[in-house]
Amino acid sequence: MSETVEISAEIPDWNREAVRCFWDPGPKLIRSIRRYQDAKSRSGIWGQITSKYWVLVHRFWSVITQSEIHLHMEIGGGLMLPHPTGIILHPDCTLGVNCLIFQQVTISNAVKVGGHVDFGAGAKILGPLQIDDHAAIGANAVVTRDVKAHETWVGIPAKPL
Ligand SMILES: CC(C)(COP(=O)(O)OP(=O)(O)OC[C@H]1O[C@@H](n2cnc3c(N)ncnc32)[C@H](O)[C@@H]1OP(=O)(O)O)[C@@H](O)C(=O)NCCC(=O)NCCS
Repeated sequence: MSETVEISAEIPDWNREAVRCFWDPGPKLIRSIRRYQDAKSRSGIWGQITSKYWVLVHRFWSVITQSEIHLHMEIGGGLMLPHPTGIILHPDCTLGVNCLIFQQVTISNAVKVGGHVDFGAGAKILGPLQIDDHAAIGANAVVTRDVKAHETWVGIPAKPL
């Protein structure tokens, strides 16, 4: 019997963020946030200069993708943005590891997202609320309530499948 390997909700898979070529907007946008946060965590002039450089890089990819993912956001490793356009994430929302966000997703207010949560295209999450590990949000769903682990929610307003 073949075994399905489940994506972890705890251990980040950094390969999911790997930049594959120069024009790779999703991974490049995420990388600018990672590098900015890394530079900011260092003291001294070098940290200041590099953080400013990564702010510029972040602005560039934000314009290209027409997305707003704040530089100070808490984002677990392994975030995938396969079609990174029009993604708006509130700075107070937090993402666990190995999440996946398709195009035109909006997360408003302080939404706490667990590990390995997938957001279908156009999903809207109207917080504050919590989405637990291994949940899936369907394309164009409008989520207004807490989502439990392993649940799939679809529709407007979204309900569990
Ligand atoms: C929500 C989702 C994860 C469910 O996948 P699944 O578990 O394989 O579910 P199924 O396709 O078997 O559908 C189960 C039921 O939910 C309904 N459903 C599935 N997705 C839905 C959605 N986004 N909105 C409303 N209903 C949906 C189906 O019509 C079906 O209803 P039925 O039982 O009355 O026939 C998936 O449909 C989805 O929306 N994925 C997002 C994919 C995406 O955004 N891709 C972008 C690529 S560019």
